[in-house]
Amino acid sequence: MAETANPNWQKSNLALGTGGRTTTTLCMVLGILGSGSGSNLQALLDAIDAGHLAARIALVLSDNPDAFILERARRHHIPTGLIDCRGCRTRFPEQAQLETAATLQAAGVELVCLAGFLRLVKRPLLDAFPKRIINIHPSLLPAFPGLQAWQQALDAGATTTGCTVHFVDEGMDTGPLILQEPVPILPGDTAASLHARIQVVEHRLYPAAISKLVANHQPLPTP
Ligand code: GRF
Repeated sequence: MAETANPNWQKSNLALGTGGRTTTTLCMVLGILGSGSGSNLQALLDAIDAGHLAARIALVLSDNPDAFILERARRHHIPTGLIDCRGCRTRFPEQAQLETAATLQAAGVELVCLAGFLRLVKRPLLDAFPKRIINIHPSLLPAFPGLQAWQQALDAGATTTGCTVHFVDEGMDTGPLILQEPVPILPGDTAASLHARIQVVEHRLYPAAISKLVANHQPLPTP
């Protein structure tokens, strides 16, 4: 289930003052891509603010100018940007991927986190961030990849589903798993009630998965 972080990742250090003592802790620079409400972004922000996740969100990008994820970022004074998909309804055009990669790199992003981003990420962006793009998906992968995974689980008559954080590869929700957690399907569950119960777990799982990647970083040698 587990996959270790790429050892070649760039490291960043955050010096924390602790009552006269200074300890050095790793802090990962994140870039978030989302198309919708951004409740997972909110969970990451809350985990960072609470001191549970040693990360900094440098940038939030969306392909949807009306996505609430952008508003959540603005409220946190995090820079935002729009991904121009040139009128393509579902595709992530190559030029848009190249622009996205350049924007993320210019912001110093080390790990790209998809949070409800509705387009398939392909080669140009994957090549720019090798093994450094992750996603959260509302099922126990490899079961129910693709859209509306909670509805797929209901339609299949499953009694358990869940959520998964995984590395992104060229497939649809096929990359190596980082963490996953089951969620029971209860009698009388609707698509909305099941998705809501999965999201409660997602909001815990995404920060935990990123913390696991942070922990796998090797500290920079002290000068
Ligand atoms: C989540 O259920 C996530 O698993 C899926 O899209 C949804 C995004 O929700 N990839 P939000 O925008 O983070 O609220």
